[in-house]
Amino acid sequence: MKIFTRSQLSLRNGQDKEEIWVSYKGIIYDLGSSRLWKNGTHYEHWAGQDLTDELKDAPHTEKVFEKFEPVGKLKD
Ligand code: HEM
Repeated sequence: MKIFTRSQLSLRNGQDKEEIWVSYKGIIYDLGSSRLWKNGTHYEHWAGQDLTDELKDAPHTEKVFEKFEPVGKLKD
């Protein structure tokens, strides 16, 4: 899988670039097709970042990522 840095990810926040990407447990997902992530925001959470630690605030599990295609990996 292609590897992206945090600064590359941060541009894919739905504002600076059209792409809406989120990293979870080292994998980057393209959430551009989601109605729930329009403009890169989702219930006070912002795309373009690693949101692994924020999933605990969600009323859902990581299963929500299953239908999205990984676009790459986040560089350590
Ligand atoms: C206050 C925090 C949050 C709330 C209230 C919230 C609420 C929701 C709701 C209601 C859904 C759709 C129903 C469902 O699949 O259960 C959803 C889907 C989703 N959530 Fe969250 N969420 C929160 C935080 C997060 C965080 C932190 C992440 C990322 C780590 C996240 C990632 C997603 C994804 C990827 C989907 C699927 C979108 C889709 O299918 O189009 N959510 N969320």
